[in-house]
Amino acid sequence: MSEVLNIEKIAEIRANVIAEISKSSTEEEILKLRIKYLGRKGIISKFLRNVRDVPIDQRKVIGQELNILKQKLEMLFEEKLNEILNASVNPGKEISLKDVSLPGRRKTIGTLHPTSKIVREICNAFLPMGFQVVEGPEIELDRYNFELLNIPKDHPSRDMFDTFWVDWKNNNGEYPLLMRTHTSPMQARVMESSEPPIRVLVPGKVFRYEATDASHEWHFFQVEGLVVDKGITFADLKGTVYEFARTIFGSDRKIRFRCDYFPFVEPGVDVSIDCFVCEGKGCRVCGKTGWIEIMGAGMVHPKVLSSVGYDPEIYSGFAFGMGVERIAMLKYGIEDIRLFYSNDLRFLKQF
Ligand code: DAH
Repeated sequence: MSEVLNIEKIAEIRANVIAEISKSSTEEEILKLRIKYLGRKGIISKFLRNVRDVPIDQRKVIGQELNILKQKLEMLFEEKLNEILNASVNPGKEISLKDVSLPGRRKTIGTLHPTSKIVREICNAFLPMGFQVVEGPEIELDRYNFELLNIPKDHPSRDMFDTFWVDWKNNNGEYPLLMRTHTSPMQARVMESSEPPIRVLVPGKVFRYEATDASHEWHFFQVEGLVVDKGITFADLKGTVYEFARTIFGSDRKIRFRCDYFPFVEPGVDVSIDCFVCEGKGCRVCGKTGWIEIMGAGMVHPKVLSSVGYDPEIYSGFAFGMGVERIAMLKYGIEDIRLFYSNDLRFLKQF
């Protein structure tokens, strides 16, 4: 018998174990401690075996004390283990979940907003054609939103009833900041800061000061496209838009180009696809015309090219811009644009 076994020794062991238990924080540590004290070769077991060597007058008391300590430790290990297991089942630990067999709380997994989804779909349709995706500022300068795009000072879209102007005056007494009304300003920004060849897509949010109804929102998304290089022609515009329309709306889509006016392109066009609901016969979706407008487009105006320092005799390009929600509405048969931003989960969960 190596160690003296007496009441003081037992008290010392009890204090040690309690300290060690309270320092432990994992199941593994507790199981180790249990072996150290209560295992077959553990400290308590060894002492219990040695009780027979204790002087006869103390043997009974020491034996009893050791057994009490053994039971106490069993209980403490058990309690601590439960505490650790509960903490891992229920990390918040507000409610102690003793019954680990209770079903867990179902986690709800969010999804992308339908606008984000369709933006990705649109971009993915262009990526194989070598487009790069860039984004621009939502608060824009008059210079990019209008001036460099050949939109004159007296153009109606500059009116304060169409554009949200930012209430900030510069030293010249002008109000040069606005919420961009389209993604086209990025055409000028991209051209100004890089050299051709350019092939970019610009998805982003735009703002219009207008009354809302089933087909108008005061903020919505657009995707702009711009291609500039030597020798770009209207045929490139046609081929690119055609490829896009077939990817999004089905491989047998027809495309129609009609003259339209946008100050930053010449010629400008509006692009329509034949109605994929009635196959061009005329229905509610296409307003009985058989055609659905999907975007504005055109050849970049020579004035726009020169205003960013490109020589229009050397470079040419095309641009297009489309409303994202409109594409989603057509594709999924959504009848009211306001549904996108009214935070109604019954609508949003369908995508
Ligand atoms: N920015 C125009 C709008 O918001 C759309 C547009 C038309 C963009 C023709 C273009 C384009 O790039 O070439 O109504």
